[in-house]
Amino acid sequence: MLIKKICLLGGTGFVGQTLANRLSTAGYELKVLSRKRESSRKNLILLPKLELIETDIHSQTNLENHFNDCDAVINLVGILNESGRNGTGFHYAHVELVEKMIKACHKNGVRRVLQMSALNADASNGPSHYLRSKGEAEKILFADADLQVSCFRPSVIFGANDSFFNRFALLLKMTPLVFPLACPQARFAPVYVDNVATAFLKSLDDPHSFGKYYCLCGPKSYSLQELVEYTASCLKIRRRIIPLTDSLSRLQASVFDFVPGKPFSTDNYQSTIVDSICESNDLQKLGITAQALEAVVPQYLSQQKQRTRYQEYRRHSHRPSNL
Ligand SMILES: NC(=O)c1ccc[n+]([C@@H]2O[C@H](COP(=O)([O-])OP(=O)(O)OC[C@H]3O[C@@H](n4cnc5c(N)ncnc54)[C@H](OP(=O)(O)O)[C@@H]3O)[C@@H](O)[C@H]2O)c1
Repeated sequence: MLIKKICLLGGTGFVGQTLANRLSTAGYELKVLSRKRESSRKNLILLPKLELIETDIHSQTNLENHFNDCDAVINLVGILNESGRNGTGFHYAHVELVEKMIKACHKNGVRRVLQMSALNADASNGPSHYLRSKGEAEKILFADADLQVSCFRPSVIFGANDSFFNRFALLLKMTPLVFPLACPQARFAPVYVDNVATAFLKSLDDPHSFGKYYCLCGPKSYSLQELVEYTASCLKIRRRIIPLTDSLSRLQASVFDFVPGKPFSTDNYQSTIVDSICESNDLQKLGITAQALEAVVPQYLSQQKQRTRYQEYRRHSHRPSNL
């Protein structure tokens, strides 16, 4: 079936905005469902043939109504932390939403589904609630014989608005002289957001991708300590990174579980137990050349540095930073 119109869940986030841009440029009609339309309005509404709709996507009826004129659904909804600690928040956002999405697809005869998962997603053996719930979502999607499902499992994703390098950049700037780093030996193969979006685009209309999952990685793997040191070097700031032992990393996570916004949590700690690297990088299978982070990250981190300086200047001159 020729896909013309796509319903995008989680389309307002970091990956979603890049993907929406790429799909829109490729000529697809898009319906982006969001819980808070206003917060991403300015980045999305100018895209041609894109409807940004505020709705509660956890309502079965809403999903059924919105899927009615769509040929495919792309689900990018994901959380890294839940408000509680027993996994119900992950289950709700990752598994129950997918169950509702499947029902809504059946109701409207939508068969093509692209699902954003994560490297090491595993319903039975995932070490964290995050990875188990992502794995469970994959499992129920692949078990549905009426759907044409492709799942994407990236390592950490980088790009101008990422929450990895930008977050470490902010934390490094906020921490004077020494920076205690949990899980310093955890390994990642950061993958460029544009490569991830290309993987979705290339698979969308390709029947060979039905029933498959794709592990997406950058060209090289690094320890977390190397990545944080690299972030500091891009910002040209000197910080002594203090690698925490495993027990101190766990302790830091259990303390941060109670900090508002959970900058690091026990569940995040558990996710790092398995390295987020690809045994075989499926970007190559899709004919995509993995972009090196060294070619991209310094550009946006230096812009962040300029923005911070500008905001400081505005603050000193008593002007609001958003004007
Ligand atoms: N970024 C990475 O490094 C990375 C790595 C591996 C996998 N992933 C996966 O890639 C996907 C996109 O990641 P991202 O970095 O773009 O995330 P993001 O910027 O946080 O965006 C997530 C999107 O999901 C929606 N959302 C969040 N919580 C929700 C909830 N409880 N119920 C319903 N909708 C909710 C939000 O939409 P509204 O607020 O507009 O409703 C938002 O647009 C996620 O599934 C994530 O697990 C990301």
